[in-house]
Amino acid sequence: FEYAAPANEPVLSYAPGSPERAALKKQLAAFKAEVADIPMYIGGNEIRTGNTVDLRPPHEISHKLGHFHMGDASHVKDAIAAALAAREKWAAMDWESRAGIFLRAADLLATKYRYHINAATMLGQSKNPYQAEIDSACELIDFLRFNVHFLSQIYRQQPISSPGVHNRVEYRPLEGFVLAVTPFNFTAIAGNLPTSAAMCGNVVVWKPANTQVFAAQVFMKVMIEAGLPAGVINLVYANGPVIGDVCFADPHFAGIHFTGSTGVFQTMWKTIGENIHKYKTYPRIVGETGGKDFVLVHKSADVDVATIALARGAFEYQGQKCSAASRAYIPSNLADQIKSKLVAELNTMKMGSTEDFSNFINAVIDERSFDKIAKYIDNAKKDASATILAGGNYDKATGYFIEPTVIVTTDPQYVTMREEIFGPVLTIYVYDAEQFEETIKLVDSTSEYALTGSIIAQDRYAVELATHKLVNSAGNFYINDKPTGAVVGQQPFGGARASGTNDKAGSMLNLYRWLSARSIKETF
Ligand code: SER
Repeated sequence: FEYAAPANEPVLSYAPGSPERAALKKQLAAFKAEVADIPMYIGGNEIRTGNTVDLRPPHEISHKLGHFHMGDASHVKDAIAAALAAREKWAAMDWESRAGIFLRAADLLATKYRYHINAATMLGQSKNPYQAEIDSACELIDFLRFNVHFLSQIYRQQPISSPGVHNRVEYRPLEGFVLAVTPFNFTAIAGNLPTSAAMCGNVVVWKPANTQVFAAQVFMKVMIEAGLPAGVINLVYANGPVIGDVCFADPHFAGIHFTGSTGVFQTMWKTIGENIHKYKTYPRIVGETGGKDFVLVHKSADVDVATIALARGAFEYQGQKCSAASRAYIPSNLADQIKSKLVAELNTMKMGSTEDFSNFINAVIDERSFDKIAKYIDNAKKDASATILAGGNYDKATGYFIEPTVIVTTDPQYVTMREEIFGPVLTIYVYDAEQFEETIKLVDSTSEYALTGSIIAQDRYAVELATHKLVNSAGNFYINDKPTGAVVGQQPFGGARASGTNDKAGSMLNLYRWLSARSIKETF
């Protein structure tokens, strides 16, 4: 069947006095009133090991939201066995029937569980209501519905036949299990990585980031309510190396769907390579890794457009999007105006708990991240080639709070122009406004990453030049906009170079990776 392109899920505003605001507040209070006991989900069973890890809101570390039960190597083995046991029936199920489960999950998220998944993301990952809504509600719903649409398009693609010959292509799932390793920063990505593979008929072992377990288990329960059969997706919590040791040594390992750090991805790839002779089939390796995303401003830019692209691009969700703007190239003719407008804009951004909806900035994810970001800021305070234009303060007494911080550097190769920080830190380099072409080269050569980037210009020749010359510098390129906020079905998302395998999430390109085609020729 063909499932027509759906509309993107509308974004609710949570305006004061709105019914959705009241419903979300109620759900936040409900989650805070209880201490959740969160099991693993293996082969349709809830598994509690007693080896628990506490979950606390990053913005309120004195409060215990709940705990999850940590597994060990034996649980990872159980998850693989449960997946393989479920495989035959799942792979043989009519695609229309499989699709119904994911479409129903999308509807459940859009209606019955919208506030659950958003409140879980706000408390567990410290997102404000708007950032939660565009992630755990809209983007996740869109992934589920659009992937069904894209997959229906793929299944329809058939070769030509001729008199006496009947040709067809069968889009089989991979022969084995897929491992999904998901990040803390988007509940939508955490939900998409296991479900996109599962939708194609694959069985999955899903390991979320420890800091995202609270929302991950809400999503898992939605999938179960939507009718996902036991063993198709197995949610396990275990240390990364334990997961890797068990999964990559298994002959049935058939693919990894990963979002996380470049270092971890490269280590995994190496291990997979070392084990390659063990596998029944060559595994698919799909990963979205780091970014060092740029905003290049041309001398013809609209100053307000540039300022908003920087402020929103760098500081939404505390800069913890892989797409976040983190290095800016500002032309000398506009530098003073942009800097003062940016400082004014940052002064309007309130920081605090996610439960006060007027806070734009919340906490960074955990202490390790806080300490790492704080170190970059401390060094910038000392370094001769850097000055702090805005922010620069941090405090972890009650939660992991770091002010939105802008560093201005005179050195285009300064460390914060090159290294991924994954926090609310933007570095600006002011270039000679007449040296645009040289600056384009600088943008391209400074970073090993190539995830997102923006050109801000009114001059069409400048837009054209940057678009052409930066052809390999970003997998998602924006003209007169911030480099974040790709929408499923509108801007397929992903980058190349050290940013990943560029198998665009939420598109046909990604789904092809979870299919292994068989050509059948019949002669008569
Ligand atoms: N898809 C997100 C964005 O575009 C990042 O992962 O911001």
